[in-house]
Amino acid sequence: MAELRDAYYIDGVRLPIGRAKDTGYYAGTRADDMAVRTIRVLMERTGIPDDRVDDVAWAATAQVGDQGLTLGRSLAILAGLGQNVPGYAIDRMCAGALTAIVNAGNAIRVGAQDVVLAGGVEHMGHHPMGAEVDPNPRFLSDKLVDQSALVMGNTAENLHDVHTDITRERTDEYALQSQERTGKAQANGIFDDHVVPMTVWTDEGWRVVSVDEHPRPGTTMEDLQALSSPFRAGGLVTAGNAAGLNDGAGGVVLASQAAVDEFGLTPRMKLVDYAFVGVEPETMGWGPVPATEKLLAKTGLSIDDIDVIDMNEAFAVQCVAFLDHFGLPLDAEHVNPYGGAIAMGHPLAFSGARLAMQVASWFQRHPDARYGITTMCIGLGMGAAVLWENV
Ligand SMILES: CC(C)(COP(=O)(O)OP(=O)(O)OC[C@H]1O[C@@H](n2cnc3c(N)ncnc32)[C@H](O)[C@@H]1OP(=O)(O)O)[C@@H](O)C(=O)NCCC(=O)NCCS
Repeated sequence: MAELRDAYYIDGVRLPIGRAKDTGYYAGTRADDMAVRTIRVLMERTGIPDDRVDDVAWAATAQVGDQGLTLGRSLAILAGLGQNVPGYAIDRMCAGALTAIVNAGNAIRVGAQDVVLAGGVEHMGHHPMGAEVDPNPRFLSDKLVDQSALVMGNTAENLHDVHTDITRERTDEYALQSQERTGKAQANGIFDDHVVPMTVWTDEGWRVVSVDEHPRPGTTMEDLQALSSPFRAGGLVTAGNAAGLNDGAGGVVLASQAAVDEFGLTPRMKLVDYAFVGVEPETMGWGPVPATEKLLAKTGLSIDDIDVIDMNEAFAVQCVAFLDHFGLPLDAEHVNPYGGAIAMGHPLAFSGARLAMQVASWFQRHPDARYGITTMCIGLGMGAAVLWENV
């Protein structure tokens, strides 16, 4: 077999994440227009000629309406990349963009393509979670999954049932930390590197949005403890220790060494390897643990070799379970150093792109660091983990 080439992360941008409400940033904006904005910025920032993009791999969980019509190709046309630029749509629910990124990386690694745009968009205001799907009745009639597996908040409550040592105190503490870290990162300009403003239409006219809408910087432990679970009577999962319902878009440019040389690009990190796994759908939040274990085993690394981990915070319980499993403290400084989805929000298929951007930002500020992992849990019981190397 011919040797694999390297696939490099060149740049990544995202929009400020909005709340999926009638009053949210993007209530009057199309999902595809949001994604187009990020693609145009990526093309301008990298200077790669539009028609030299070999593919556009773009993810959405709801692939209908303004997220339908095979998104990658729609975006290539809408962004004016040129008729020769193909594209396709991807769905692996929360890990959509992460899947787009590894697919793009693989196309480069085998030598089939040189420049690929990979990202995701999810307008949860236009496409409420699960609203447009029709699960096969056999899931329940044949007891293939428990009913709770189809509501993500319920899977988080289930995870609490399995890990009884993960108390409400600990998940709220984790959630508070997410708010505090995101607030600090925002104040320190960490997101300036990859968050780009967008002009949106609102009831009051045009408006430029430039800062994430979801974080609640003033959150206190008392605020969090006062919230109750919407998922189960007496449950432990609340609006304060879960990711929100959000609108977001963004993507990254991946390129080969040949493209780096031709277009004078600066590689920021290398896609080393990845792992996807299946787990019990009823406790899907466990997914990052076996996915990360599989990735470490494949690459011969240990968790101590990983300098930074950016984990999607679908639910605090799932993050605490991950930290406990790897013997890491709740406040491990190298895990979600910039906070996460509990503060920032989680527009499903888009979020994996944000994780990659944050690892790239962290590497830029820690030139001596070598390895980073992005990891996520995924609906219907899956986990994803991707290994990056600082270059
Ligand atoms: C939990 C969930 C149902 C809450 O939805 P919501 O009610 O629209 O959430 P809101 O942001 O309006 O918050 C609800 C309340 O909690 C309060 N709240 C939320 N976070 C808070 C915080 N950090 N501090 C203080 N109060 C907070 C809000 O103020 C609000 O109270 P109000 O109605 O009095 O204003 C929703 O966020 C959810 O389903 N999250 C999980 C998403 C998911 O499953 N993603 C996929 C993962 S695999």
